[in-house]
Amino acid sequence: MTINKQTPMDNKLDSTLDIMRDGYLFIKKKRDELKSDVYEARVLGKKSICMGGEEAAKLFYNQELFQRNGAIPYRVQQSLFGVDAIQTMDGDPHLHRKLLFLSLMTPPHQKRLAQLASEQWKTAFVRWKTQKHIILFEEAKALLCRIACDWAGVPLAEEETKERADDFHAMVDAFGAVGPRHWKGRTARNRTEEWIHGVIENVRNGELEAAKGSALHEMAFHKDHEGNLLDSKMAAIELINVLRPIVAIATFLTFSALAVHEHPELKERLRESDEEYMEMFVHEVRRYYPFGPFLGAIVKKNFVWKDVEFKKGTTVLLDMYGTNHDEKLWTNPNEFRPERFRDWEGSLFDFIPQGGGDPSKGHRCPGEGITVEVMKASLDFLVNEVEYDVPSQELNYSLSKMPALPESGFIITNVQEK
Ligand code: HEM
Repeated sequence: MTINKQTPMDNKLDSTLDIMRDGYLFIKKKRDELKSDVYEARVLGKKSICMGGEEAAKLFYNQELFQRNGAIPYRVQQSLFGVDAIQTMDGDPHLHRKLLFLSLMTPPHQKRLAQLASEQWKTAFVRWKTQKHIILFEEAKALLCRIACDWAGVPLAEEETKERADDFHAMVDAFGAVGPRHWKGRTARNRTEEWIHGVIENVRNGELEAAKGSALHEMAFHKDHEGNLLDSKMAAIELINVLRPIVAIATFLTFSALAVHEHPELKERLRESDEEYMEMFVHEVRRYYPFGPFLGAIVKKNFVWKDVEFKKGTTVLLDMYGTNHDEKLWTNPNEFRPERFRDWEGSLFDFIPQGGGDPSKGHRCPGEGITVEVMKASLDFLVNEVEYDVPSQELNYSLSKMPALPESGFIITNVQEK
């Protein structure tokens, strides 16, 4: 193949430093500058293609053209996902594994987790009466860790909750990091894998009972697409792939509280409105605030798209944050406006905070229903059950730091029953 002279290109020797500097805006900035939704760049020393927008997302989820195996750097597997987990799989083995995850995330599971969250917020509130300052992010992390383990059937003593929750968070916090934050994530993963591996082994040898249908039971006894019991280490890694992201909802809950604080008029709307408005609010939090920046895949066979040659083996990055902030898809994308979701047609490829496409056919997050229901239950508690003050604090977050979070973790004081 000859390189097309028209191909939009980031001419830098290597754009990796731009990722560190521009963070979530890394691809969108270049797309705007080059006036193109697709361009070539060198990332981590490799020729890559960066792209964003609805059409690009549709392309990215075409499994004839892209594979995931080989796309996730080993260091990210060692901290965030676990080595050789579902995120790296393709084809039938992936679909078979995905069905297991989806079976644990049906509406009854979503409701159960939302109900557990509501109960735990009420319990937390009783404790808060004796506390001066509450850091919402820290509270949310521990609460979500408690409900994730309770729901999954994983025994968790109250005294270990904070440490386990911190470890789940450290794995997520490591994804955009080099140096100490990365190493903290790896240590957290090793500790968590050892813990959950022990739990899986105990279920398999009968020392611990797991209810049929619980995440623990289903992971412990899952058979792969060839009918073989999963290696117990892999079963542990995949169970962590359910527990860790539930704890990660703490980030969206903290941004929800920030949104309510920054838009007091919407707090009134939330109080007066029905569940539909609450859901639109939650979608807008997931669209507007930064969490996942971009996704990677590998070109499976040569093809041309928008005059750009995609060569087999090339890494392709899909701009998630930039697609959620694309002015071609969203009117005034940098305004927080839940109402926009009233007219939203529900495309599988324009609103992609947790990936795009059909989750049962590709890699889109199977946990969106859980995320939305837990966020709604938590928001309902924050706006309808309690009142609090938000003292002066550092609420800024940087789009250069991935993952982003308000610096103070969102401190509230003087929490009262409403
Ligand atoms: C905290 C909010 C969440 C965010 C921002 C998020 C984001 C994502 C993203 C971006 C992907 C990758 C999509 C792709 O590769 O195409 C993903 C995949 C995944 N998520 Fe989530 N997620 C969240 C919550 C959850 C929850 C609550 C669960 C489970 C209880 C979950 C389980 C998974 C799993 C197992 C995958 C891998 C799917 C696959 O590779 O087929 N996530 N998530």
